[in-house]
Amino acid sequence: MIKTSLLRQVSRASTTAVRPPTSALLTRQATRGIRITPPARSEEDKDKHDEYSTAGKPGAFEHEGQFSRTDKRIRVEYPEEENLPSSAPVQGRGGFHFRRTLSSFSLEGRSAIVTGGARGLGLVMSQACVVSGSDVAIVDLNKEEGEKQAKLLEETFRKENPGATRVPKVTAHYCDVSKPESVNQALAEIIEAHGKVDHLVTSAGFTENFDAIEYPHDRIQKLWGVNVDGTYLWACAVAKHLMERKAAGSVVMIGSMSGAIVNVPQPQAPYNAAKAAVRHLASSLAVEWAHAGIRVNCISPGYMLTALTKKILDDNPELAQKWTSLIPQGKMGRPEDLMGAVTFLLSDAAGYVTGADLRVDGGYTVT
Ligand SMILES: NC(=O)c1ccc[n+]([C@@H]2O[C@H](COP(=O)([O-])OP(=O)(O)OC[C@H]3O[C@@H](n4cnc5c(N)ncnc54)[C@H](O)[C@@H]3O)[C@@H](O)[C@H]2O)c1
Repeated sequence: MIKTSLLRQVSRASTTAVRPPTSALLTRQATRGIRITPPARSEEDKDKHDEYSTAGKPGAFEHEGQFSRTDKRIRVEYPEEENLPSSAPVQGRGGFHFRRTLSSFSLEGRSAIVTGGARGLGLVMSQACVVSGSDVAIVDLNKEEGEKQAKLLEETFRKENPGATRVPKVTAHYCDVSKPESVNQALAEIIEAHGKVDHLVTSAGFTENFDAIEYPHDRIQKLWGVNVDGTYLWACAVAKHLMERKAAGSVVMIGSMSGAIVNVPQPQAPYNAAKAAVRHLASSLAVEWAHAGIRVNCISPGYMLTALTKKILDDNPELAQKWTSLIPQGKMGRPEDLMGAVTFLLSDAAGYVTGADLRVDGGYTVT
């Protein structure tokens, strides 16, 4: 019913809308000595404009902005670190390559660092590197979890590749990515353990929701420290190492679709700004380091169903409905959906791709 009357309005608007004459038309009319006076808008049209616009009369239309505004009452409670569920390596994604693909997608013989690799998206992307033949150094605040997952990744690889002549080496290292001295110390440890670094994936990051005006300043600084400084510090440290080795390499920064759009209904302005910064850092450093053969790209995931987001949505089911209603594919992403994207961007298959932002969001940002 609503749809039919809306369609009628739209169709009437498109057939009766009066456009101001263009200058070309005005010149032609003046030459021919013709004057056209646009018909005055009827009272009914004026009322409709007010009804469908909040510019003059906020609150006139009961659905105004309904699906595109933040709601300051929404504050998602993130579980405390000790209550966070652990992730597990995905099964059946690796194994022998029974199907042919481009060899340029392989990361065989490479060595990659994945920050935030102990859990969630970072862990799955670490696994993508291992499956593709790369050694991996997991970098995380939670070293114990990183060590557990490093063992599991090697075990899963062995199980899925019986008789493999080489099993990628996976190590775990403590680091607070927001602190320069911690980054330098972890990098030195990794070079000691792996001999070199070819790739970096920056996945350490977090989000939280506060109404902007009430956001405690120290928390904003912490959020920007991990998401922005952490990305910057690791990218510079690895680029410096690559330049010293005179070796080519590639970096993938994990941004978010929040760097391009504003999520609703949960307010999270500082996170959105942080992810916009990450996206533009990737472009800026891509230009700055192109001369050294270092490519820098960004992946901007949409809503991904990790162990952490699953817990949040289990506690707030109405949020899941709102989120999925805005995704053209109608579902949240699985962390595994990033495996191909990260492998491609790190590998030689993406040799001419730098400064790009690859959105993996089920179409969220194109509507
Ligand atoms: N999950 C999503 O829906 C989603 C969507 C878009 C973007 N992202 C981004 O992807 C990245 C990973 O998100 P996730 O969902 O896997 O989160 P997660 O919380 O499951 O994992 C993040 C990991 O980073 C580590 N970490 C946090 N602070 C750190 C620090 N200071 N130093 C070192 N390690 C630290 C944590 O210990 C954890 O292991 C984040 O940057 C996030 O903003 C996530």
